[in-house]
Amino acid sequence: MENFQLESLSEKNCQEIYEFCERKTQFWTFPYNIFKRFMLNDPNFNPDLTIIARQGGKLVGFIVAAKRRWMTRTRAIIKAIVIAREFRRKGYGTGLMHELKNRLKVIKLKKIDAMCGPPDYWFPGVDVRHTAALFFFKRNNFHKRGQRINLSVDLSSPTLDQPPEARRENIIFSRATLYEKGELSAFVQRHFGLGSWPEETLLAFENDPITNFIARDTITGALVGWATHSCGYFGSFGPTGVLKETRNQGIGGDLLRWCMFDQKTKFNQKEMTIRWVTGNTVKFYSKAVGAYISQVFWVMRARV
Ligand SMILES: CC(C)(COP(=O)(O)OP(=O)(O)OC[C@H]1O[C@@H](n2cnc3c(N)ncnc32)[C@H](O)[C@@H]1OP(=O)(O)O)[C@@H](O)C(=O)NCCC(=O)NCCS
Repeated sequence: MENFQLESLSEKNCQEIYEFCERKTQFWTFPYNIFKRFMLNDPNFNPDLTIIARQGGKLVGFIVAAKRRWMTRTRAIIKAIVIAREFRRKGYGTGLMHELKNRLKVIKLKKIDAMCGPPDYWFPGVDVRHTAALFFFKRNNFHKRGQRINLSVDLSSPTLDQPPEARRENIIFSRATLYEKGELSAFVQRHFGLGSWPEETLLAFENDPITNFIARDTITGALVGWATHSCGYFGSFGPTGVLKETRNQGIGGDLLRWCMFDQKTKFNQKEMTIRWVTGNTVKFYSKAVGAYISQVFWVMRARV
């Protein structure tokens, strides 16, 4: 990156980078506070992994990465790479990628995931509509490792203006309270603990009101399921889970409808995005609430 001035993301330039991103990138738009939460306020924020390139003061592009512990492995995730239109296809994106890889080598990170950042899921992979980005990552030795799907659900139905039933036989549904935080966290950790679901569930306790809904057995007093919404951005849904022995009774669908009702009536959302769905679970959402496939993401990974 010769002839460029390089700087890191900071309080000073965050708003400028946000506006650049909103202007120069198709198929994404976020409010500033969400952008800042994902970028600057990431608990693993490392300024050395955020590279902004300027030429004579003019913003040319930037790449932002962070370190993530995923299952048992630690790797880097790229949260964004954007080059100004007039500078594209001149090798600058590749230049930023090389600079990032050099910095990752210094901190001994060996693998990078593209556009995938649990637990906050800025994106669950490379949105295939970002055609240039797809080929860019391929050219930079990223390989496809899988696919994730987002579904959309329209929230305009008047039935969602009323709360769903709070009770189904011996199961009651409610919004989790702060007093139930420890119990819910232990439940998710115990039954759905692989990956980042416990962390995502905890993130939803930071929303006001809390965006976790729980299903409790009135006879045993124990939790049997839960659903989280808006732990990444408002309007998003997931994770969710119902204990194996209580499945196929409609509890998952009820939890889902509670979240849809909440998004519509408390958060003014018009549409809900069910994130990172794999395999036949797509059918559950389609059947339960008429959700449809709206985005496809490739999981892409490279060696540093
Ligand atoms: C993706 C992006 C960062 C690439 O930056 P760039 O500086 O143009 O990339 P480079 O010049 O280093 O190109 C490297 C390779 O990427 C691929 N590529 C870049 N633009 C492409 C396009 N429009 N169509 C197909 N392939 C493309 C090519 O394989 C290219 O190598 P080649 O020219 O030898 O064939 C840039 O297009 C961009 O900012 N896009 C909008 C933002 C975006 O979608 N970011 C990803 C999500 S955050």
